[in-house]
Amino acid sequence: MQKILILDFGGQYNQLIARRVRENQVYCEVHPWSMPLEEIRAFHPIGIIFTGGPNSVYLPEAPKPDPGVFTLGVPILGICYGCQLLAQMLGGSVEAAEQESAGEFGRTLTHFDPSCTLFHDLPEESVTWMSHGDHIAGLPSGFRSCAWSDGCPTAGICDESRHFYGVQFHPEVRHTVQGKALLRSFLRRVCGAAGDWTMADFRKKAVASIREKVGDGSVLLALSGGVDSSVAAALLAEAVGSRLTCVYVDHGLMRLGESDAVEAAFSKRNLNFVRVNAQERFLRCLAGVTDPERKRKIIGEEFIRVFEEESRKIGAVDYLAQGTIYPDIIESGAGSAAVIKSHHNVGGLPACVEFREILEPLRMLFKDEVRQLGRELGLPEDLVMRQPFPGPGLGIRVIGEITEEKLAMLRRADFIFREELGKAGLASQCSQYFAALTNMRSVGVMGDGRTYDYAVALRCVETDDFMTADWVHLPYEVLVRVSDRIVNEVRGINRVFYDITSKPPATVEYE
Ligand code: XMP
Repeated sequence: MQKILILDFGGQYNQLIARRVRENQVYCEVHPWSMPLEEIRAFHPIGIIFTGGPNSVYLPEAPKPDPGVFTLGVPILGICYGCQLLAQMLGGSVEAAEQESAGEFGRTLTHFDPSCTLFHDLPEESVTWMSHGDHIAGLPSGFRSCAWSDGCPTAGICDESRHFYGVQFHPEVRHTVQGKALLRSFLRRVCGAAGDWTMADFRKKAVASIREKVGDGSVLLALSGGVDSSVAAALLAEAVGSRLTCVYVDHGLMRLGESDAVEAAFSKRNLNFVRVNAQERFLRCLAGVTDPERKRKIIGEEFIRVFEEESRKIGAVDYLAQGTIYPDIIESGAGSAAVIKSHHNVGGLPACVEFREILEPLRMLFKDEVRQLGRELGLPEDLVMRQPFPGPGLGIRVIGEITEEKLAMLRRADFIFREELGKAGLASQCSQYFAALTNMRSVGVMGDGRTYDYAVALRCVETDDFMTADWVHLPYEVLVRVSDRIVNEVRGINRVFYDITSKPPATVEYE
């Protein structure tokens, strides 16, 4: 398989680079900049990309790859910091901008030299996204400038004889209008990538490798009904057939009709589907608890306990499978970020449950690739395109104490909101949309009587990666319909709010 190696120097857009490469049907992996030369060689890349990063290449602590990487005969594309690294490590010079205001940030008109392989079929000028204070002051021998802007005579550099290219701007960011075409030129023309990385191919290889690993052993999967675990289930079922058991834990915090829908969808497949009805015990543990972090911890721990009990009933199981995907892996390498919320997912299971090994068959795929694989495996479109639903479920959408009564109100309101967005044809344009029950009660009037009821908040966001999100400008007619239906159909709710905060400063979920 043809592979591109992305060496990560800590830039903000590194995951995006990997996605853009994959979108060109070329397989790639992101590895730390310190990857030893022998490992780089053993990876057999057809091309290497150096990412951007927050450092300055001339500082002593600046991260630098093993210089042997330049002797492998493999094409290299350096982006931003990566471009400056190429220049500096190969004998050129990089300097800081003289004044604070120098450097380039944001959209920049950039000229491309069409005689350079990277820019062959591209227009001679186009807007790029720049974000740099340092610039290349002297080119290494063998290099020439192949792109320039008003503020930067070396916006692109190349040594075509060695297949080394660098761009000061970010081709992976959508604001760089020709970014995708440029990456495609690097992959196809420079590296000779065939662009044959497809999900059909992935499926075949993944099934073969699961079979080889598991042999005649058995596999247990925690199935939530979400996209990742559902696709993992279908893939594992194809690989090991009846030696797969899927456990679905209903913690009583699911959306309206969800547990029955999951059961209906999966129990007829060959998955040894086990549904555990644990609603009562979760609600018992959560009674009186109002602190968001405590709620999350209780739900996570109780989930593990239920899952452990079930796996003991099933008997010795060799492998625990998880629907971990690539962003989870890249992000978990991110280090010392502040804990905003303790996420609950099956990531917490292995420490407490004994298995021979963990299987993560989707660990190298991005979300959109997981969806494609799901289609390839014949999963229905509505399942494959599901919006994310958090592990702690409605537990973090009922603000304050969770009671059965509040859950029932929220389920109805949330169902109405989702149904109306679906009818209006808006669902597929929104990344995530749901209702949350606020902890606020207020006075209203219905018929001729006074009410003192709860307010529900509607949330609808648009995002690529869920790290940041914008609220969606839903049409007023849709909001009016949803509001009318909720106050008329759901007893106990007399007000409807629409949330117009983005993330940051808010988060997507309420707790
Ligand atoms: P926040 O609220 O952190 O949410 O802005 C970002 C995305 O993560 C989802 N989310 C979770 N997913 N377990 C999950 O599997 C969790 O504990 C959890 N908390 C939030 C949230 O729905 C959104 O898509």
